[in-house]
Amino acid sequence: MNPRVRLRPEVLRRLHADAERRRIRQSQESPIRPEVSPIYPSSVYTFDDLDAIQAYYEHGHTSDAYVYRRNGHPNERPVEAYIAALEGAEAAVLCSSGMAAIAQTCFALLHPGDHVIATKHLYGGTYAFFEQTLCTWGVDISYVDLNDTLSLRKALRPETRMVYAETIANPLLQVCALPDVAAFARRHSLQLVVDNTFATPLLARPLEHGATLSLHSLTKFLNGHSDVIGGAVTGDRDTVEKVRKFSVMFGGTLSPFDAWLTERGLQTFALRFSKQCETAHFLANVLANQAAVRTVYYPGREDDPSHALANHVFHGGYGAMVSFDLHGGYEAANALVRNLSTIRLAPSLGGLHTTLSHPALTSHRAYSQNEREGLGITDGLLRLSVGCEEYEQLESELTQAFEPLNAVIKQQQAH
Ligand SMILES: Cc1ncc(COP(=O)(O)O)c(C=O)c1O
Repeated sequence: MNPRVRLRPEVLRRLHADAERRRIRQSQESPIRPEVSPIYPSSVYTFDDLDAIQAYYEHGHTSDAYVYRRNGHPNERPVEAYIAALEGAEAAVLCSSGMAAIAQTCFALLHPGDHVIATKHLYGGTYAFFEQTLCTWGVDISYVDLNDTLSLRKALRPETRMVYAETIANPLLQVCALPDVAAFARRHSLQLVVDNTFATPLLARPLEHGATLSLHSLTKFLNGHSDVIGGAVTGDRDTVEKVRKFSVMFGGTLSPFDAWLTERGLQTFALRFSKQCETAHFLANVLANQAAVRTVYYPGREDDPSHALANHVFHGGYGAMVSFDLHGGYEAANALVRNLSTIRLAPSLGGLHTTLSHPALTSHRAYSQNEREGLGITDGLLRLSVGCEEYEQLESELTQAFEPLNAVIKQQQAH
């Protein structure tokens, strides 16, 4: 299978230049020249005299020196440069989780009394943060279908400051009309913040459409090995520095070891993600052929409501997540999970291995049952995060696991 999503040549050039610069510096500084960067776990750095400390504070994050790990450390620099290059951003800041990236962005850009227009198709953790924390801080939030221009216009208030979107919504994978939403934000001088975790910069770069910031849970595809909890915020230097200030103040920065693991993970990101997208497309069609499946959600399928938009907004692929709703609700979902062997129930996504999650019980449990039903997040909905296994193996495991469920449906249809 030919990969359909690739790194842009300018990103590749930038990554090679960064690696070369690091190699040259290392060879000048030390006779030890490891191929892989060392980890700097130090919580504090030393200075020769008071003038050196003074110089550090004058240059801040742009200086080559470090003072205290919460303010920055050598392991974060290459990762920030890498992610900024992927997103086509001027700058990036790493955070201790995707949620830290979201929360610190909101605290940095909003003030009590402000209003946010957020997509109604939100990751449950973000919804919980908005409803349980951000609103107690005096920020009001309206949830709308961002692709519906009329709803957007109706939600607008004099105190609206931000539009908050997800490029591909969790868990039903609706694609955001980024060019239109960005045009609306620009017209009304609003900041547009986009959670680009599901799409990744290989599919979409929100900043190119006019978003103010594009943010990530690094926990997912960018690190991709299910061994880091991390986040990143990318955008213009001034806005990113505002977020960094909050990050340093709140202590929501990424540890050296997690940054180092992420640097490792990023090196195979394009390879992994392009294979994952190909396999996901294939499996979406396999799932659509199962009698027990009521609906498949995958923007790559022609019958998906987001397909045309995905062709317009994405660069070549459709993502590595597939959601599907089962006839038979919770019981059927539980039976399918029990019938699977290597595809494990794991409430996260973006790792090397294919996993399943049940959004109603996990990522979207902050919504009430009524709210979930209104959004289409049923008890029979499962979300597949497609990994790097061979697609024949996954097809065979899924079709075997579906056999008993399909038999029940066929029996019911016969009566
Ligand atoms: C779309 C999306 N954004 C943000 C997050 C939060 O990321 P983290 O778990 O790294 O805090 C998640 C977590 O599942 C997510 O799915």
